[in-house]
Order: sequence, then C-alpha cells, then structure tokens
Amino acid sequence: MSSSRIPRFYDLTVEERRQRLAEVLELGAEDVAALTAADALPLEVADIMVENAVGTFALPFGVALNFQVNGSDRVIPMVVEEPSVIAAASNAALVARAGGGFVAEADPGAMIGQIQLVQVPDPGAAVERLGAARARLLAAAEELTPGLCARGAGPRDVEVRLVRSPRGETMVVVHILLDTGDAMGANAVNSLVEALAPMVEEIAGGVVCLRILSNLADRRLARAAVRVPFHALARAGFSGEEVAERMLYAWELAASCPYRAATHNKGIMNGIDAVAVATGNDWRAIEAGAHAYACRDGSYRSLSEWAIEDGHLVGALELPMAVSTVGPVVQSHPRVRLALRMMQVSDARDLAALMAAVGLASNLAAMRALATEGIQKGHMALHARAVSHAAGARGAEAEQLRRRLIADGEVKIGRARELLRAMGSSS
Ligand code: MEV
Repeated sequence: MSSSRIPRFYDLTVEERRQRLAEVLELGAEDVAALTAADALPLEVADIMVENAVGTFALPFGVALNFQVNGSDRVIPMVVEEPSVIAAASNAALVARAGGGFVAEADPGAMIGQIQLVQVPDPGAAVERLGAARARLLAAAEELTPGLCARGAGPRDVEVRLVRSPRGETMVVVHILLDTGDAMGANAVNSLVEALAPMVEEIAGGVVCLRILSNLADRRLARAAVRVPFHALARAGFSGEEVAERMLYAWELAASCPYRAATHNKGIMNGIDAVAVATGNDWRAIEAGAHAYACRDGSYRSLSEWAIEDGHLVGALELPMAVSTVGPVVQSHPRVRLALRMMQVSDARDLAALMAAVGLASNLAAMRALATEGIQKGHMALHARAVSHAAGARGAEAEQLRRRLIADGEVKIGRARELLRAMGSSS
C-alpha cells in the first residue's frame, strides 16, 4: 500500500472516496463490486448465518486513515454507528505519525478451554494425578485436533486450577491450551474439551460439569505502543507539553478509578469493536476478554498505560485479542472478505496487532479531546449532519443547515426543523 494518508478524504463524495481507495489499495473488480453492491450481505448468506433470518441490517462502513503500524501504512475498515469513531481514530493516527506511528504485535492463537470437575473426593490428589497425566492428555488432544496440528497449531499445555465455590466446595478446573492458528477457535476448543472430558474425569475422579472456552484469552494477547512528540499534541490553545500533562492526569484517573476506567476502556473498544464488526469477528468475545483482563489484578482499571518521557507522550495497550481471518463468515460475507483485503492482513496475529493499534489510537484521540476542549464540540459537529438529515434537509441545503446548527450551538431536531422552514421561506 502506497499510503494510508489521503488528505481531505472526508471532503470527497462517497463515489470519489471509493475510487481513491480502489486506486490506493489496488482493489480488483470483485472488491469494487463488493464495496458498491446495494446489498452488503446477500439474503441467502444471511439465511445460512443465523436461524430465523427475515432480512439484513445495515450500518455505515468507513475507513480510518493515516495509520502507520510497524513502519507500514494500513487502511483500517470500520463498521460503526457512532459518528466520531472513525474521525477520531484517523485523527489520532495522524498525530501518531509524528512519532513514527504505532508498533504492535500479537501472541500466537492460544485459547483456553475449561473442564470443570465437581464433587471431586480428593482435589489435591486429583491435581497431582492430572499433572502426572499431562503428556497423555496432550497426546490425546493432538489426536483430536489433526487439522490444527498439520497447520503447525494444536494443543500446547494442560493446567489445573483449584477454585472455591460459593457453597464452599473445592472444584478442580482443567485448562486445555489450544493454539487455534488463524481461527478465533471457539468451535475447535469446545469440541476438544467436550471430547477430552471423559478422560479428564477418569483421571481426576469427581463429575464433569462445564466444558467450554474461556473468553479471558490471556494467552492470546495483542500489544501496541506509541510515542508522540509533544509538538504533535498541541490543541485548542494548549501547548503540546500542556496537553501531554493533562492527558497524563486523564489516564491517572482511569488507572485509579473504576468509574472513569469503564469509560476510558469503552473509548479503546470503540475502535476495536468497529474493526471486529467489519472483519466478521465476535466483538462480544473481544469485549468480554478485554474487561475481564482490565480486572486481572483484582480491581477494574485502565487497559492502557501512559507516561511522559523525554519530550514525548508514550502510550501502551495490552489486551486479549481472539480474532479470526478464516472461517465461514469470511468465506461467505463479501464485505468481510473485502475488509480483510483492505487491511492487507497476513494472518490473525497481524489483524490482532492492528486492532490493538486501533484501540490505542481511539484512546489517544479521546484523551486528547477530553484533556483540552472536551469531546462535545467534535461530536456535535458530526451529530449535526445526522440532525440536519433527520429534519429533512438534503444535498447542499443539508450542509447549509448543518453549518447553521453548529454556529447556533443548538444541535437539536426541533431547532433544525425551524431553521429549515426559515431557509425554505427565504429562498
Ligand atoms: C465515547 O464513545 C468514548 C469516550 O467517552 C471515551 C473516553 O471518555 O475516554 C470519549
């Protein structure tokens, strides 16, 4: 990809943006057809994706620009209903370019499958017997996952935990670690733990209850980091150094207060979820993993870390990222395939790393706006477009109404209708 930096892309018409993107990404005829088709998801595909389908549901599909990750430019497809998410990520990626962009990486795809044993007569002895049977369990797991093993993935380890139940029982919980390669892995993990459970029960004693994947995928982490020179942060009358200092205060609250951490992390997930939806990934699993990871040391806190070093604001983000670049949704959903091609992802680890960079960009954008002029000015400027459309304005008139609403400082539907009526009677 030549560059993800396409100045004033937002000023182009939708048609012009498609053409520019097709040129920059060297999209083929099939890709352009997938992007321009009136129906993003053919009904027959929807019908095989879920039970009881009666239609499809559309959301805006956009691209975040300016991203430089590990020295390469990447265009980031996003599907999201919130007006500011794509603009904010693109803006932060531009700011990050001043420091060379993001560096990002992700672990191999090791997922955790849990087998719960209850009514175990001697939990301590069960742990010992399971430990001694580790090689036998791994060999059985390998036999049950020949496809993954052939692709260099497959079972990696067996771990045992003792968990105290609310009724005071000591439960034995066996974790099977399975590298699921480029798949998210829920089906592979669930099939494996269901198949291994009788053997585990025989070794441990007691009774098997649950056999299911854990969404706290903390053996499959993605990380991103950024180093922004002060001068790139200046905004709204604040010097870059002042902005950095105020952003650090903003982060310190998220690092210490769960009420703020929840919102701070929501901002991180704004970008990550939008990419997850565009690429056909299970955003609920990613959300569950992220928030559980944010609590890993007992109190809920910020997923990102920020510091000031040597005239730079330095940020880092680490979170579980169980994503897939293969499977039925990728095979059958034309726009998911297109999104993956736009990002030019090589595999699931590459996608996970990019998503961590996008999460850090979303966080950078939110903190910079919050620490300076606040988020409402930018939000209202974007919201005014939707309000102007909802009031019934179209084309040039809609743009005129949008500007009037912003100038007025009252971005409300009632006011928009009034202004539209006045515009109509004065023309
Ligand atoms: C809004 O969708 C996200 C923010 O609230 C995130 C944050 O507060 O850090 C702006």
